[in-house]
Amino acid sequence: MQIVRSSEELASARRAIEGKLALVPTMGALHAGHMALLDEARRRGDKVAATIFVNPTQFGANEDFGRYPRREGEDARMLEAAGCDLLWMPSQADIYPQGYSTTVHVARVSERWEGEARPGHFDGVATVVAKLLMSVRPDVALFGEKDFQQLVVIRRMVEDLNIPVEIVAVPTVREEDGLALSSRNAYLSAEDRERAAALPRALDYARRAILDGTQVRMALDTGRKMLVEAGFSRIDYFALVDAATLEPLEPLESAKGQMRLIAAGAIGATRLIDNLALDVPAAHG
Ligand code: PAJ
Repeated sequence: MQIVRSSEELASARRAIEGKLALVPTMGALHAGHMALLDEARRRGDKVAATIFVNPTQFGANEDFGRYPRREGEDARMLEAAGCDLLWMPSQADIYPQGYSTTVHVARVSERWEGEARPGHFDGVATVVAKLLMSVRPDVALFGEKDFQQLVVIRRMVEDLNIPVEIVAVPTVREEDGLALSSRNAYLSAEDRERAAALPRALDYARRAILDGTQVRMALDTGRKMLVEAGFSRIDYFALVDAATLEPLEPLESAKGQMRLIAAGAIGATRLIDNLALDVPAAHG
């Protein structure tokens, strides 16, 4: 695996790559969720590239940019073992040089939910992903369903800006108790880690209840209660949305196409997000 840092080094490594290139963008502190993206990248591409960049512009002023886990050496070993061909680890100055003034804003799909809870977050994500895609110029780029709104925002941006790349979604990888793998799970104490499993449990409860004909509002209310009872200190949202537009579907009559249950909350100081697909055969209101 070749490791490059500056944009110049990347450009020359990129020129040497022949065939279909698949890219996995990450912020590092890699876990089995990231590795699922890498495995899918190997299936989709002749060559695989990954990026590790803890992007300062997608963190809010009071968020965890400073303490976000950084494990370059271990990450590089994991990527190499998984068959990655090229790793780009740019510095902040490579991505945001002096005088940098351009921001990509994806209207509407970025504004609710995470966008409301984390103002500016998706501008940071869209801007850095646009730059990563234009610098690496992959044929395919892989993103996790774990960050479902991020995936929708990136698909919209790629279409709107005619970025010539195919975006592929990879299903969420979970722990045995259902908790979605996340670099941020490392912040949880043992006790909070147990409580965190209430998030996928509540989503799964709501999914089953809606499929069984329970009113959407009631199913969502019960899901929220499950989180409070489990010790969540805050619920930012717990909603049923249209999977393409992320508009809320409550009641269900407005549902067309695919739906998604999405949720975010905090246990102590740690914020967790999760989501589940939901396919309802008939509307129950
Ligand atoms: P990061 O949180 O490192 O995640 C990198 C990729 O891994 C994202 O596409 C994310 O959805 C995916 N991922 C994380 N946990 C997963 C899990 N449990 N199962 C499946 N996929 C999972 O997301 C980012 O970085 C950044 O916002 C980035 C896109 C790199 C832009 O800075």
